[in-house]
Amino acid sequence: MAGTKHKTPLLDDLKEGKWPSFVKELERAAQKSPRTEDLIGLLENSYRDHVPHWKHGGMAGVRGYGAGIVGRFSDSPEDFPGTQEYHTARINQIEGFFYTSDILRKLADICDEHAGGLFNFHGSTGDIQILGFKQEEAEELFQKCTHLGFDLGGSGSALRTPSCCVGPARCEWANYDTLHLTDNLTREYQNELHRPTFNYKFKIKCAGCPNDCIASGARSDLSIVGVWKDNIRIDQKEVAEYAKKFDIKKYVVDKCPTHCMDYTDGKLTIDDSNCVKCMHCINSMPKALRPGLEKGAQIRIGAKVPMVQGPRLGFILIPFYDVNKDKEEDYAFLKDLIQKIWDFWDEYGTNRERVGELIQRVGVGNFLEAIGLDPLPEMVEYPRANPFIKFEEYLVPDDEEEGKEG
Ligand code: HEM
Ligand code: SF4
Ligand code: SF4
Repeated sequence: MAGTKHKTPLLDDLKEGKWPSFVKELERAAQKSPRTEDLIGLLENSYRDHVPHWKHGGMAGVRGYGAGIVGRFSDSPEDFPGTQEYHTARINQIEGFFYTSDILRKLADICDEHAGGLFNFHGSTGDIQILGFKQEEAEELFQKCTHLGFDLGGSGSALRTPSCCVGPARCEWANYDTLHLTDNLTREYQNELHRPTFNYKFKIKCAGCPNDCIASGARSDLSIVGVWKDNIRIDQKEVAEYAKKFDIKKYVVDKCPTHCMDYTDGKLTIDDSNCVKCMHCINSMPKALRPGLEKGAQIRIGAKVPMVQGPRLGFILIPFYDVNKDKEEDYAFLKDLIQKIWDFWDEYGTNRERVGELIQRVGVGNFLEAIGLDPLPEMVEYPRANPFIKFEEYLVPDDEEEGKEG
């Protein structure tokens, strides 16, 4: 490889092609950092041997914090001394990811001076990640970041840095103020973020609408997804404009997952009681269709990526929640709910069991009882197919009679 001391035929192959190559970026960082040069050598060996050459675990951190630094140690420090310690600092990102160029330069200077010259913007959890420093440099790196106004994020068995989509800052589809709520929750849960006391990780992500640009519903234990309660707003004049450009029936109406739309005689109608708020029609005709005016959020629970068991999406815990940043009691309701969920998980969860896995193990009925919520028809594993819970015990006598009649 040009400019580095290691021979890397496999990585060199990855530089071919039209797209930006992470190998080229690694090489650029290696020009300034011998430890990142060794990282390249180690990575080449991983491709050659088909095994990762990292040891998982090991302690790395800063005083007073149990989380925020992810320790990484390689298994070949003799060959690649620069990778003996190649830790990651998670830095709490700004809501909506807005930075000034000045602050980015200052962060980059810290990264060059104390780490391997590599950032990750943004880690899958959302944090800024500074890659490649040693334990002995951690304290100074952390001090410099805090002087810029950045705190550490979460790692280990602690709350992950709450994160959100850009929401109302730039997006007209936001149904609540994702930025404000995320900021509020982050400040509230500083202790849970910095000092691991959980069974495993817990992620909270706030998406302004069901497009869910941060994939909150797919990977966060608690997803707060903006929705509307009333009807989709339709501008028939704009519908007519779209009709000149494409086949509304074919591309919008027929693709509605619940078939609750109709387009006849140049008029679009929606049976909103059957709309599952998938956003398809709004995404297709943004000038003609808009979310309703009664805005709030849906709370989902239990999503995660594979680990102990396979991946799962969150399921609906609260179909509509009137979250409003001007009303502190709305946030209080959410915080009370979060506390109940954590208490339950703390009591019954096993080590490294995500809350979604625990719910799967003990059953949704038991979970709902523990956190004091009533079961609702929305709580189904697959919409319109498979209720998680049996409703018999909740039927009142009249309903039972009707049930018998058939
Ligand atoms: C066989 C090797 C590895 C496996 C199986 C593995 C597995 C995983 C999984 C499943 C997650 C996501 C967990 C979740 O969000 O629920 C994760 C996240 C992460 N891994 Fe690994 N990992 C491996 C190697 C590494 C290495 C070598 C590094 C760093 C040098 C690393 C750094 C991270 C970081 C920083 C995250 C968090 C990303 C984020 O949430 O922002 N992992 N890993
Ligand atoms: S999730 Fe919705 S509100 Fe948030 S940025 Fe994406 S489209 Fe906009
Ligand atoms: S949001 Fe989705 S379900 Fe609702 S009307 Fe539009 S396409 Fe149909």
